[in-house]
Amino acid sequence: GKVRVPTHIVSSICDDRGEEPKYAGVTMSELIEEDYGVGDVISLLWFKRKLPKYASKFIEMCVMLCADHGPCVSGAHNTIVTSRAGKDIVSSLVSGLLTIGPRFGGAIDDAARCFKDGHDNNLTPHDFVEGLKKRGMRVPGIGHRIKSKDNRDKRVELLQQFARKFFPSTRYLDYAVRVEETTLQKSANLVMNVDGCIGALFLDLLASSGAFTKKEADEVVQIGYLNALFVVARSIGLVGHALDQKRMQQPLYRHPWDDVLYC
Ligand code: ACO
Ligand code: LMR
Repeated sequence: GKVRVPTHIVSSICDDRGEEPKYAGVTMSELIEEDYGVGDVISLLWFKRKLPKYASKFIEMCVMLCADHGPCVSGAHNTIVTSRAGKDIVSSLVSGLLTIGPRFGGAIDDAARCFKDGHDNNLTPHDFVEGLKKRGMRVPGIGHRIKSKDNRDKRVELLQQFARKFFPSTRYLDYAVRVEETTLQKSANLVMNVDGCIGALFLDLLASSGAFTKKEADEVVQIGYLNALFVVARSIGLVGHALDQKRMQQPLYRHPWDDVLYC
């Protein structure tokens, strides 16, 4: 009989062999003719399915709202310094991207994991916060350097408003809000941040949009898809910062001595 030589690569998201490439079975022509957006393309290539309109719109909102947050944040700072050192766009971009992690922009997956664990195990917000504290962990998705109880993060407000209007359920968001109420009693800057908000709302999408089985939803949380949303979004701003420095012909950056405590 026929002997099938095993392939070296298995791939399941994009097929480029026919007349036109297909993203999870959807042709380029369909993308254009049926007015798909970037949120739909992300859904097809990451989740291998078209999500309901409000869900793709939510993904697009995350990308738009996280695209930049000024020159002073970790990622932009690195990109600006790298661009001013004369490096190319790719180097400047990745230098900024490399700062994305548990403290900056990369707390979405852990926030989703923790809120899911707390909510699904019926932990009171107080027990949830104290449980993490006992394990020596900060609550992922909570806390901000400049945002606080009286100076809320507009991104978080906009995402919450949208979800309350269009999502079938916001029970994970509601749980995260109750956690925030608890942390705010400790300190005014322990607000829900944009990572925490996206993490909680994605749990709501996974659980209530009808687009995922429970097993698939659990897999998204377990593998950790969601930090990538921040990576994609912030790449837009970081490229902007790299180009901005070059356009203004900024010289090599050297940090001033008087801003360093030599000890
Ligand atoms: N959970 C519990 N306690 C906290 C938290 C938190 N998430 N954040 C700060 N605290 C408390 C701690 O007691 C901390 O003391 P410690 O250093 O002994 O642990 C104290 O506040 C002061 O901590 P700082 O690091 O000075 O607070 P800062 O305002 O600089 O921290 C940060 C901001 C890094 C975002 C922090 O709140 C944190 O680690 N949060 C969790 C990670 C996270 O969600 N990051 C995403 C931020 S949003 C974004 O980057 C787009
Ligand atoms: C960001 O989106 O970069 C911020 O929330 C971080 C910051 O410190 O402003």
